[in-house]
Amino acid sequence: MAEILAVSEALERALALLRDGDVVAIPTETVYGLAGDATNGIGVARIFETKGRPRFNPLIAHVADMAMAERIALFDPLSKKLALAFWPGPLTLVLPQRTGNGIHPLVTAGLDTIALRMPRGFGGELIARLGRPLAAPSANSSGKISATTAQAVAADLGARIKLVVDGGATPVGLESTIVKAEGERLRLLRPGGIAAEDIEAAIGMELLRGGAAGVEAPGMLASHYAPDAAMRLNAGTVGEGEALLGFGIRRAEGWRHAAAFLNLSETGDLREAASNLFAYMQVLDSSGARIIAVEPVPFDGLGEAINDRLSRAASPRDNILAAT
Ligand code: TXA
Ligand code: MG
Repeated sequence: MAEILAVSEALERALALLRDGDVVAIPTETVYGLAGDATNGIGVARIFETKGRPRFNPLIAHVADMAMAERIALFDPLSKKLALAFWPGPLTLVLPQRTGNGIHPLVTAGLDTIALRMPRGFGGELIARLGRPLAAPSANSSGKISATTAQAVAADLGARIKLVVDGGATPVGLESTIVKAEGERLRLLRPGGIAAEDIEAAIGMELLRGGAAGVEAPGMLASHYAPDAAMRLNAGTVGEGEALLGFGIRRAEGWRHAAAFLNLSETGDLREAASNLFAYMQVLDSSGARIIAVEPVPFDGLGEAINDRLSRAASPRDNILAAT
């Protein structure tokens, strides 16, 4: 079973494991990550193995500073502007790779682009000390809900890894927003912890959306973040035996009869809702209800990413591409 160590006492042990080509679960501001040295093929292979993740689904490389980022990838002016505005933070940039950057090809699944992010907090410190980028997907079994606490990581992956670094509940609670440079424009590949509107305000133009050729972010497909229970979205009523995931002050009809009830944010605060989303889905899932009814959540700000995760959780479960 994995050892759980607080951030204040975990640095040396985490470094030793990473230098040894092993993986470590670490807190970031978004969700917990399952980290390995991005330049070490064994470490990277262990990430895929541990999660049961398909190898054609590329990983995000996490960096400690701008210099490290620019050794790995080529920044166009808009992406650079976003990096300066939002890093460290919940933004991932997909950029062309620099040749000879030392990143193991398993990280990018052989693509000539790479997803880069500079995380806040413990992750940043760890990467700086290691002196190498860390590949890190969310620390959950492929296709399951992302973990926002060390306990959730341990419950899912604890038998397969040696160390979970405990930084408490992750403040943002949703994965990073992913954008990709495309000519003179940027495309939103995954809504996430920074609202698309905030990115658009920073670059002074609209993001391209949808319509990207092929599977740009394979983890973005279909059944992802899947609880065992079925999910029923935009519920105006609660059916017999259903659990209810609420939002705001207006309740779905029949809510008092719900098998279990949690409110993402009583005051209708989308940031609070984002930070509660995965943990509350997990709790309602383990209540044993076969269906989780979900009240409507508005689409503005972080609501876009919340609705994105909810609809993935609600979609059919048989898609093998489904997973990160
Ligand atoms: O907040 C986050 O982003 C968390 C924390 C741990 O940093 N990480 C995370 O990683 O959510 P993961 O692996 O669960 O999701 C990364 C997404 C996947 O959908 C993957 O397909 C996409 O990024 N991706 C990675 N490299 C890509 C690339 N070169 N082009 C397009 N999409 C890429
Ligand atoms: Mg994931």
